[in-house]
Amino acid sequence: MLEQDIKKVLISEDELQAKAVELGEVLTNDYAGKNPLVVGILKGSVPFLADLIKRIDAHLEMDFMVVSSYHGGTSSSGEVKLIKDLDTSVEGRDILIVEDIIDTGRTLKYLAELLEHRKANSVKIVTLLDKPEGRVVEIDADYVGFQVPNEFVVGYGLDFDENYRNLPYIGVLKEEIYQ
Ligand code: XMP
Ligand code: MG
Repeated sequence: MLEQDIKKVLISEDELQAKAVELGEVLTNDYAGKNPLVVGILKGSVPFLADLIKRIDAHLEMDFMVVSSYHGGTSSSGEVKLIKDLDTSVEGRDILIVEDIIDTGRTLKYLAELLEHRKANSVKIVTLLDKPEGRVVEIDADYVGFQVPNEFVVGYGLDFDENYRNLPYIGVLKEEIYQ
């Protein structure tokens, strides 16, 4: 059913699972002896975050933020708004932001600066996907799953108008779906 709307699969379910294992091992080493606060950016990061944290063998806590930059459709408005803040204080904490994709970079630049301003001990970013061609502000993730071309992608958390988040892989939509 959903598969009929997909033009091509960019990253398979197996590749996504393998990446969670690989990044989890790196993060297990990098956060050894620390107690990071893992901050998931709702809603797109949820499937990736769920798979990733199971592969991090360290004490960690989890919290979530909601920001808006896209208002439906496939292009960015340029403005970032905080919709739901953390429940946890970040002062002195080692923060690991988990995001689905970096495109223009505006969302993560805003969030990283906000958490640094709140006196986090460290702020690092892990993103499943990176679209380097989309960047309009300077920001890089510390940990990147996959680089993707400048195409609108869906699945494994990423949506088009709130749909397709539940696809187990990352794919490109057929043009007729969003035209
Ligand atoms: P910025 O531009 O602030 O964007 O780096 C980050 C947010 O934009 C959304 N985004 C996408 N969502 N397919 C999606 O479903 C895409 O190809 C895409 N590119 C950007 C996403 O919500 C991300 O958190
Ligand atoms: Mg998002």
